[in-house]
Amino acid sequence: MGEIVYGSVIADKMRADLREKIIKNKDQVTLAVILVGNDPASLSYVRGKEKACAQVGIQAKTYTCDQNITERELQALIKKLNNDSDIDGILVQLPLPKHINSTKVIQSISVAKDVDGLTVENVGRLYCKEPTFVPCTPLGIMAILNFLPIKLAGKHAVVVGRSELVGAPISRLLLEANATVTMCHSYTKDLSFYTKQADILIVAVGKPQFINAQDVKKDAVVIDVGVNRQANGKLCGDVNLASVLDKVAYITPVPKGVGPMTITMLLWNTYEAHQRRMR
Ligand code: GUN
Repeated sequence: MGEIVYGSVIADKMRADLREKIIKNKDQVTLAVILVGNDPASLSYVRGKEKACAQVGIQAKTYTCDQNITERELQALIKKLNNDSDIDGILVQLPLPKHINSTKVIQSISVAKDVDGLTVENVGRLYCKEPTFVPCTPLGIMAILNFLPIKLAGKHAVVVGRSELVGAPISRLLLEANATVTMCHSYTKDLSFYTKQADILIVAVGKPQFINAQDVKKDAVVIDVGVNRQANGKLCGDVNLASVLDKVAYITPVPKGVGPMTITMLLWNTYEAHQRRMR
């Protein structure tokens, strides 16, 4: 029987540590969150981020913009926040409406305030092993893996999904940890052939309960990044936890797995942005 690894428990501990630091140093840390439109999922993520900020003593300032805001208007808001000495970090909640070029918008965030690690410069820095902000979900996954009594070096890590937010950066981090990394995506033929070989399986595709017992290796470590809303309103992951639990060594659940760790890493990145600014 595998062990369910609650990211929420690791997250609580990391948030308590951060809160203690912020209180002890009397740090005034502020995160600006930009939310465009009224997508319920994005709104719920932003509320989660605001709550977590309050928990550790970071001020969250949310800028809610109309669905029809233009790219230029959004860039003007970001420019204002870049120049605001009270703001440590800026996060633009994704996805943005279709008429907006997300890359252009993200690129207008100051590299020093890009706590999501999505600007071209910060992505490049990750690949050149230079100090950067690493995107929060991959950072959270690495924190979970480092918490487990396992070694990454020499293991076969299979990443399903190649997004800029998760798949691409987690592959890089696992490679840096000396894992052998296979990246799978929507064009991969016979996906199960690869997932069955994974000592460490990271799934980030957004397909409810897509990975089952026949797709995993015995004693694998499975990290489920998917967050899917079911017809009954409940959340589920990309992995069918009930199906794989008997076969794997560890698995993160959805909810209470990777999600709370993503937010925790955002808090730490924002704190780091503040520290760098104060140096
Ligand atoms: N939407 C879903 N995940 C994320 C994230 O990590 N950062 C941003 N900015 N938007 C998201």
